[in-house]
Amino acid sequence: MLTTEDYLRILESCEIKGQDESILRALRYIELGYPIMFYGPPGNGKTTIGEHILAMMGGGEDSYLKVEASEGMTEYHMIGGFHPLAMSGNPELAEKFTYKEGAVTRALKSGRNLLIDEFTRAPSSAYSGLFMLLSTGSLPLEFQETVLKKTNNWIILATANFGDEGTFKLSAALKRRFMPIYVGYASRATERNVIQKITPLLPDEILEAILEFAEETREAWKKDRSLPQGLSTDGVIKMSRYCDLSIKQGSDVKQTFTDAALHQGIIIADETDQYSIKLVQEIALSIGNKL
Ligand SMILES: Nc1ncnc2c1ncn2[C@@H]1O[C@H](COP(=O)(O)OP(=O)(O)OP(=O)(O)O)[C@@H](O)[C@H]1O
Ligand SMILES: [Mg+2]
Repeated sequence: MLTTEDYLRILESCEIKGQDESILRALRYIELGYPIMFYGPPGNGKTTIGEHILAMMGGGEDSYLKVEASEGMTEYHMIGGFHPLAMSGNPELAEKFTYKEGAVTRALKSGRNLLIDEFTRAPSSAYSGLFMLLSTGSLPLEFQETVLKKTNNWIILATANFGDEGTFKLSAALKRRFMPIYVGYASRATERNVIQKITPLLPDEILEAILEFAEETREAWKKDRSLPQGLSTDGVIKMSRYCDLSIKQGSDVKQTFTDAALHQGIIIADETDQYSIKLVQEIALSIGNKL
């Protein structure tokens, strides 16, 4: 069992600030042996939290395997299967097959934990072996005529953006195999602290304007989804760094803020929807005009 000191050590050493609730919740479920799926709007630290937990729990970055799911992924990539030797250019070998192990198989065989990043970018069909492993605790490898078992302390984490462009809807049964943990937008106070550490010389008025921009875009997202997402903490950091550099180079504060907000606006608006582009521009200009 993790001690209170372990929990504190993991929280304090995490690069992602202000997400302690989500991290604590995840640690408890991990202790109970459940797979975790971090979900939430992009750029708020899901992947970084997953990597950090695995490095801390397993004793370093080599203690886990990380794969990034993608649209073309199949059972072959996750579990493994036969692979032709044809690529070798040798006609004799061309008719023979070897087998290749997929990510889950490699992780289990090497005793490493597993992080599946961007889980919902691959279709549920890629995960049928994994589904069986999570349901029964064992994974039959037909191509090797063996059965792998998962140990009780094997950790599997995933990250996902539900409903984002280019993502698949998970089958209800697969979804149920993971404990969902939401990683949302960090609070204004947290982000202020993060920015003051990264860009200590950024003038207060511009820092507050950036935080205001983040808040208003998030409100628009929450209220009626008039924006597909709010500004992420990652976006807040990028804006602050850009403004910090530009102001040091002598640019006008108002001009710099408006510029940076419009750049970020392109990321968070839906570029095919005039209304959302206009809305984010209006928010940027109205906050910029107060500077
Ligand atoms: N709460 C936070 N405190 C400090 N830094 C943060 C925070 N949230 C995000 N960041 C910064 O944003 C970066 C991007 O985070 P990360 O890639 O883990 O997000 P994500 O949720 O996985 O995004 P995506 O959904 O796009 O994959 C981090 O490396 C970190 O620098
Ligand atoms: Mg990520």
